[in-house]
Amino acid sequence: MGTDHRTERERVVQLTWVPCCSPNDLTPTQVDEIIQLFLQETEERYAEASVRHLPIPVWGGNLKLIDADAPAPQPILGVMWATPFKDDIVRVAALVIASAYQGRGLGGTAWDRMNRTAWSNGFRHVQLEVKAANERAQRFYQARNLTIQQRLEGYYQSGLGYMMRGRLAQPEDTKHYSPRHQG
Ligand SMILES: CC(C)(COP(=O)(O)OP(=O)(O)OC[C@H]1O[C@@H](n2cnc3c(N)ncnc32)[C@H](O)[C@@H]1OP(=O)(O)O)[C@@H](O)C(=O)NCCC(=O)NCCS
Repeated sequence: MGTDHRTERERVVQLTWVPCCSPNDLTPTQVDEIIQLFLQETEERYAEASVRHLPIPVWGGNLKLIDADAPAPQPILGVMWATPFKDDIVRVAALVIASAYQGRGLGGTAWDRMNRTAWSNGFRHVQLEVKAANERAQRFYQARNLTIQQRLEGYYQSGLGYMMRGRLAQPEDTKHYSPRHQG
């Protein structure tokens, strides 16, 4: 009740990944938010239909980043979408965080949660696609045991891509970050 006297810096720790829906369950506003996230953070332009038709099942590998303190409906500030691929491989179809919230361990937290869910569902490997120019994301994935397996010509409109793959970590080995901005 009353005025919230916390500073923006203190409020940041309320950012949290919560289980999310498959693309088909999103409201039109949420689809717009996700389209904007992809556009701003990866320069990939998706139409509403292409977001909705991403082949992502309803399962524990899907997360959205929200400010738990914001009034509902909370805007989507990040997305992790993973999907069973083949054999024991899970595919990360989307991992994106709004730039204001990058670099403080939130991507690592989402990765660990996806890793735990995938592991407990019997998956042992993870693969994904990344733009060749996106060296920061490649470093993030390399730190999580993924290596470049294949060059992808024609996959991204903007140029070369890579397929990266690696072994999932045993859940007790996953990294645990505490938020940098904890007050
Ligand atoms: C790539 C992306 C998902 C990574 O998420 P992030 O939240 O920025 O990454 P993190 O902060 O968890 O980790 C990045 C690095 O910062 C450092 N770091 C961040 N928070 C830290 C903390 N609290 N303590 C110590 N180190 C920390 C770590 O060194 C970490 O390095 P590591 O990969 O060796 O563990 C995010 O930057 C993003 O959305 N980028 C734009 C979209 C994009 O490129 N997506 C990938 C498309 S394939």
